[in-house]
Amino acid sequence: MERTFAIIKPDAVERKLAGKILARIEEKGFTIAGMKKIQLTRKQAEGFYYVHNERPFFNDLCAFMSRSPVIVLCLEKENAIADWRTLMGATNPANAEPGTIRKDFAVNIEENSSHGSDAPETAAFEIPYFFSALELV
Ligand code: RTP
Ligand code: MG
Repeated sequence: MERTFAIIKPDAVERKLAGKILARIEEKGFTIAGMKKIQLTRKQAEGFYYVHNERPFFNDLCAFMSRSPVIVLCLEKENAIADWRTLMGATNPANAEPGTIRKDFAVNIEENSSHGSDAPETAAFEIPYFFSALELV
């Protein structure tokens, strides 16, 4: 079993797409090990995305991620990290495969509805950024 970290981003929560995204997650066989709705502060968004702090889109990204609530998730499944990335689709919805969350729901390359850890080391940083061990079952 592998765990990954996921976010239903502000654009999707605002448009009341959380239920549809959660249904896809469960249909694909993920177990929801942890879930909560929170609103990130600007500082918390910057800490989460620190690996991108030199990128031109960093300021816009942190403003977007802190503008309204998100739903954070810890998902469990065999091959969870890669399988969740596949279910999300490419970063830019224009390049995402049909049937993926980003193809079906994303607004654009930034407001792309979902986040997923991209490697085991990333998941190992991201899961405890949001969840204590007691919150994961
Ligand atoms: P994520 O980390 O959110 O799962 O997305 P990702 O791995 O597919 O993409 P990444 O390169 O890590 O970028 C993180 C997020 O930054 C926003 N972004 N905006 N304006 C732009 O060119 C641009 N590029 C990336 C997106 O919200 C992306 O998911
Ligand atoms: Mg990423």
